[in-house]
Amino acid sequence: MWERESRLNLSVDGLVRIREVCRQRGLTLVVETPLPHLLGGQPDDLAWILDRVPAEGTGICIDTSHCSLGGFLFEALERFGPRLVHLQISDNRGTTDDHLPAPGLAPRPLAAGTLGAIVYPVLKFIFPPPRARGRAKGAVLAARAGELRAGSGKVFPLGTRPAILVHTPDGKWRAFSARCTHLSCTVRYREDMSMLFCPCHDGRFDLTGKNVGGPPPRPLPEHTVVVKGDEVYVTEAEVG
Ligand code: FES
Repeated sequence: MWERESRLNLSVDGLVRIREVCRQRGLTLVVETPLPHLLGGQPDDLAWILDRVPAEGTGICIDTSHCSLGGFLFEALERFGPRLVHLQISDNRGTTDDHLPAPGLAPRPLAAGTLGAIVYPVLKFIFPPPRARGRAKGAVLAARAGELRAGSGKVFPLGTRPAILVHTPDGKWRAFSARCTHLSCTVRYREDMSMLFCPCHDGRFDLTGKNVGGPPPRPLPEHTVVVKGDEVYVTEAEVG
């Protein structure tokens, strides 16, 4: 723990120095959202760092690929959108940082706040808060029942976090947080193993959410599933 805090503080020191060099040259320091398993790669850590770097002359580049791998794209848009000066849009297959080619929206970093003011509302329009798409308060429509055959799963946004809906091989519906309890990568349903799998460090969970292999130290928190006709809802509140 001490080493981690020490490294976060070193990150702050480095950024403050770089920002000063940028300031002397009339440039804006743009901090990119790191990969989720790296230092500062989790939203709380990045916010902690940025809170300690002067906001003036410092902006954020949201890398959609990095945030999607961590399962917190919506959360990153909410928390860092107001400081956005560059958006790097690329895609991946949810397992590695593929950076499939796509142009960024911003041709070059602009003055802090200017681009964010333009792009952030657009992003909010494109990606409306997931809760608004659900029917019951605190619940989201995770899937149509016919969409997921028995023995499959689907990652979906629950609030600002990823969750995973599982249709078990014996026909039950279950839902869990999709944030791995090791370092928060997004877990997937592995049909060939009939379990939940984290690609970052080969973490494994059974279909009750229990950690059964690899480094994850705890089970995945579970959410309540309500099936209404063809609609499968998941509530944000955790079970138990
Ligand atoms: S983040 Fe390490 S196993 Fe999931």
